[in-house]
Amino acid sequence: MQTLQHTLTEQYIEREEMYNAHNYHPLPVVLDKGNGVYVWDVEGKRYFDFLSGYSAINQGHCHPKIVGALIEQAQKLTLTSRAFHSELLGEYAKYVTSYFGYDKVLPMNTGVEAVETALKLARKWGYLNKKVEENKATIIVCSQNFHGRTINVISFSSDQSSRIGFGPFVPGYVTIDYNDIEALKTVLNDKNVCGFLVEPIQGEAGVVVPDVGYLKACYDLCKASNVLFIADEIQTGLARTGKMLACDHEDVKPDILILGKALSGGTIPVSAVLCNDEIMMNIKPGEHGSTYGGNPLACRVAMVALQVLKDENMCENATTMGGYFRDQLSDLNSSHISVVRGKGLLNAIEIKHSDGNAAWNLCIEMMHNGLLAKPTHGDKIRFAPPLIITKDEIDECIRIIADSLTILD
Ligand SMILES: Cc1ncc(COP(=O)(O)O)c(C=O)c1O
Repeated sequence: MQTLQHTLTEQYIEREEMYNAHNYHPLPVVLDKGNGVYVWDVEGKRYFDFLSGYSAINQGHCHPKIVGALIEQAQKLTLTSRAFHSELLGEYAKYVTSYFGYDKVLPMNTGVEAVETALKLARKWGYLNKKVEENKATIIVCSQNFHGRTINVISFSSDQSSRIGFGPFVPGYVTIDYNDIEALKTVLNDKNVCGFLVEPIQGEAGVVVPDVGYLKACYDLCKASNVLFIADEIQTGLARTGKMLACDHEDVKPDILILGKALSGGTIPVSAVLCNDEIMMNIKPGEHGSTYGGNPLACRVAMVALQVLKDENMCENATTMGGYFRDQLSDLNSSHISVVRGKGLLNAIEIKHSDGNAAWNLCIEMMHNGLLAKPTHGDKIRFAPPLIITKDEIDECIRIIADSLTILD
């Protein structure tokens, strides 16, 4: 039985390796079903999903209302392209702009496309409103950022593995240390700076939470220098950290807000950029767009995905369960955990061990014990379950983590 089960998983993995690009390094588990906080593999084994599609599945796997809306709309109209109007685009645009308090939305699909959109909006605003010198627009970014994988976006990544072999890179970016207000001060005075792009918490870097007051101080400095504060909330937004936006923790309203991932509850790629007219109305027909951006299916799904976050009190649950989870993790007093950190249900631990593969080995052990999580940047493991997780489920997961940690003894 055991041999047969392993063979099945191996067969799926072998086929994938054979025909699919090797641009990821997944855990050796093959999933075929998801429901709420759980996923199942092809052999019927159940796991807690502690990655949630990198926070795309905040609402839980296959949320019935989101899937219901998806199916209903898929049977009616899926794509018009933006060559024609659709019945739903105006309804969605009104809904999402009033939800977040902006004049306009620009709908895209993947996260990185939304980041690209925000950068284009910032540059355009720089030229038209701030009057920066022609082709000199500069955007400030933070070290250890993660904003996606296009050539433009990796042009300002500090992760060498994402850059090697992909140059030449796009100019116009200045990198400063994250969580360093003084560093921001020194670069803001350049008259060609039009935007500051920041993750309110650096997710991919290992859930790096900046000091309290950092975002507000950066926002105020940007305002004083007539620079746009651009928040990439693709991973931190949509209730993940216990507020609808992570910027809400400091009452900061970004000039440009970037959303993705959970905007569709993990069903189809839906992203969005929100800002006020002064910035958005600089973009004219033909200057930006996407065939699928704002398609009727995406509009319907996004409205329901956003409504579910509110109706099911996911911010409150992320706050309560996140705090409880961190407390329980700290109470383990494991000699192998050097740091427990995070906000809401976006959390991570740092592994302390002489074996450089310890974090990966722990993830494999947790997988065997029924919990899926993935190392990020070597020794860090992110814990980000769907926001519907209950206290009993957290207790069970803490037991799994505790049991699994013993393999590092
Ligand atoms: C903060 C942040 N920005 C951008 C992206 C890119 O999103 P996508 O993979 O949908 O292009 C991600 C993805 O992990 C992210 O976490």
